[in-house]
Formats: sequence, C-alpha cells, structure tokens
Amino acid sequence: MTAKIVSNKLYGSPGFERYGFLSLYAPDISETFKPGQFVMISAGETWEPLLRRPFSPYGVDNSQIHILYQAVGRGTRLLQHQQNTLSVSLPLGSSFSVTRGRKAALVAGGVGLAPIRFLADALKDSGIVLYYGANKEDDLFYPFLTEDVKYRRVVCTADGSFGTAGFVTDAFQRDAGNFNYVYCCGPKAMTDKVTAICRQRGIPLEISVEEVMACGVGVCGGCLIDIPANPAKSAKKVRCCTEGPVFKIAPQ
Ligand SMILES: Cc1cc2nc3c(=O)[nH]c(=O)nc-3n(C[C@H](O)[C@H](O)[C@H](O)COP(=O)(O)OP(=O)(O)OC[C@H]3O[C@@H](n4cnc5c(N)ncnc54)[C@H](O)[C@@H]3O)c2cc1C
Ligand code: FES
Repeated sequence: MTAKIVSNKLYGSPGFERYGFLSLYAPDISETFKPGQFVMISAGETWEPLLRRPFSPYGVDNSQIHILYQAVGRGTRLLQHQQNTLSVSLPLGSSFSVTRGRKAALVAGGVGLAPIRFLADALKDSGIVLYYGANKEDDLFYPFLTEDVKYRRVVCTADGSFGTAGFVTDAFQRDAGNFNYVYCCGPKAMTDKVTAICRQRGIPLEISVEEVMACGVGVCGGCLIDIPANPAKSAKKVRCCTEGPVFKIAPQ
C-alpha cells in the first residue's frame, strides 16, 4: 500500500543527523499494529534500491505509525529525503506479549529502542523499568528522554557522558533480581549478554532479532537464523521475518 508521510524529521547536528523520525498516515492499520511487529518500507521512489527495508515502529497513535530510524546505508539515507508518500507492507511478523502486572525489565540498545518503547507504551504499567543504552550522549535519541512516561527509565552511556556510566547490560545485571520477565532489542552482543543473564537467573525472555531481510514475508530464505539462544544449535533454522522477529526464550 501507499502511505502518506505526515512528517519526516531529522535529529542531530546539521549535516550529521543521526536519527530520522518518520510518521506515516495509516488509519486502517495503525490500531492493529502490535509492539515488535515490523513494516517493510521502500525507501526510494524508483526501483533503486530494489528491496524494501524493515523497521519496527516506535509507536502508533492518531491513525499514524511512527518510525525511529538511523541512517546507516543507501536505503536509510534515501529515506531521510522523503516527504510525500512511501510504498509499505505492514504489519508483519510476530509481536511481544503485552501482559500487564509482570515485574518486567525492558532492555534496549541503539534503535532497538523503537519496539521496546512501543511495548512500554502498550503495557501502560508503572511497575516496569526501561533500560536504554548507547555508546555516548550524542547516540541517544533525545526526544525519548523528555517524554512524559509512567515507568522508570535507566539511561546508560558506555563512555559516561550521560546517565549511568557503563553498558546497559551492566545496569540491568545489577537489578536483574527484581524482575520476573524481560524483553529486549538491540545489537547482538547486547542481546546475547541479556540472554546469558536471564538464563543464569531463570527469567523468561523475549528478544526482537534485527536480521538483514530481503522479502520480509517468508519467501526468499534470506533471513534464516538459528533458533535464538538454542544451546543444541540443531540444524533447524527459522525465518526471522515470519517466525520472528520476536522470539520467546524459556528459562532453562
Ligand atoms: C525486524 C527489524 C526491525 C528493524 N527496526 C529498525 C528500526 O526501528 N530502526 C532502524 O533504524 N533500523 C531498524 N532495523 C534495521 C534496518 O532495517 C536497517 O538498518 C536497514 O535495512 C539498512 O538499510 P540501508 O539500505 O540503509 O543499509 P544497507 O546499505 O543495506 O546496509 C548498511 C549497513 O547496515 C547493515 N544492515 C542492513 N540491514 C540490517 C539489519 N536488518 N540489521 C542490522 N544491520 C543491518 C548492513 O550489514 C550494512 O553494514 C530493523 C531491522 C529488522 C530486521
Ligand atoms: S526476508 Fe525473505 S524469507 Fe525472511
């Protein structure tokens, strides 16, 4: 379908915009979107780049879908210049479980913040704690830090330039005994560490995996991965786009 762009703002110093924040008008679909599901977006107005790119929304409201994106390559840099309409397929993939009343930690690194913040919004639960980490202050998505939220935020930077100094996984590890459920999304090194902590403590976990995707609908086989956190490393592989991107990992 074609979605109208309501706004597409860039954040960061001029010429070095680190993040884009895109709002799409999608009245029939926005309310059905669940946290963790993703949208495939055609970043250009021509056939180049040919493949759509996957993004997990940051939130939905007022018939709009909001996407936080980082310009890392050709597609996302093109996306920064779009202001009219975009061709999109949505909503796709599995979602996080939205169960209130758990003592839940939500752990996000980099643009992994997007589905984690959407989930926190859907949980509407003051008992949750959201851990958000980046390498340095400039890498944080600042508007999130000033949002009026009901839950506790723990913000970490590896170099100590903002919030708690150190990795977000260290902050989570210190508090892990307070939680009976964990959700996470971010770079693989981070999700591996969160998985190890949850395993050690027997806490159930849901991870959103950010795998490179081509079709996004289970046809091409381009996103085949080992079942996340499968210690047996069996030959069975799963399609991240249809069986994921959110996977549940039971405690051992
Ligand atoms: C389910 C899912 C949800 C995602 N949600 C978001 C989001 O909310 N915001 C956001 O900014 N990004 C998100 N991503 C990552 C985003 O899809 C990629 O950054 C984007 O496809 C890169 O396209 P490009 O053309 O700019 O880069 P390319 O030119 O294709 O690649 C540039 C670099 O980015 C790496 N890359 C490409 N695709 C991915 C990927 N899927 N994950 C990690 N690295 C990748 C490449 O290996 C390469 O190093 C998500 C990915 C998935 C699978
Ligand atoms: S991206 Fe094509 S099968 Fe998953």
